[in-house]
Amino acid sequence: MSDIQTTFVMVKPDGVQRGLVGEIIQRFERKGLRLVGLRGLIPSEQLAETHYEVHKERPFYSGLISFITSGPVVAMAWSGVDAISVARSIIGPTNGREAAPGTIRGDYGMDIGFNLIHGSDGEDTASSELALWFPEGTMEWKPDIEQWIYE
Ligand code: RTP
Ligand code: MG
Repeated sequence: MSDIQTTFVMVKPDGVQRGLVGEIIQRFERKGLRLVGLRGLIPSEQLAETHYEVHKERPFYSGLISFITSGPVVAMAWSGVDAISVARSIIGPTNGREAAPGTIRGDYGMDIGFNLIHGSDGEDTASSELALWFPEGTMEWKPDIEQWIYE
């Protein structure tokens, strides 16, 4: 089997405040992705600024940093074939009002900023975000059920 990737996913403070952590984890589990990292924390400003460095010059940047540091987030690492794009399709487009029903943002979101969840957008960002949020690495394991996920 080719192209096993690991992606970084984070339930943002609005998702935690709204009690959607379990629902969100369940969607990734049921899809067949493998949970290889899980961590709850209130991000420091430094961590949030590094994570969103690419958006530093954007008008929404300071609001985004205040939002992400405002309370607990749940950081996760998920593995599977093409995990990066699979996670992005489970999550849906940035604006919840435009996201299709069936996606997390489409089912639960009405906003661009408060959009519940983050997912890495490519291989480079996945590896830098995993290193940033999981400095001690992730878990190496293979669920027994995986023989029924991939042919
Ligand atoms: P994410 O990085 O969080 O997975 O979301 P994304 O790829 O769909 O969106 P991106 O363009 O990377 O933007 C990062 C986050 O910044 C907030 N944002 N606010 N007010 C605005 O116009 C605006 N635009 C973006 C969102 O929280 C978005 O997820
Ligand atoms: Mg992004």
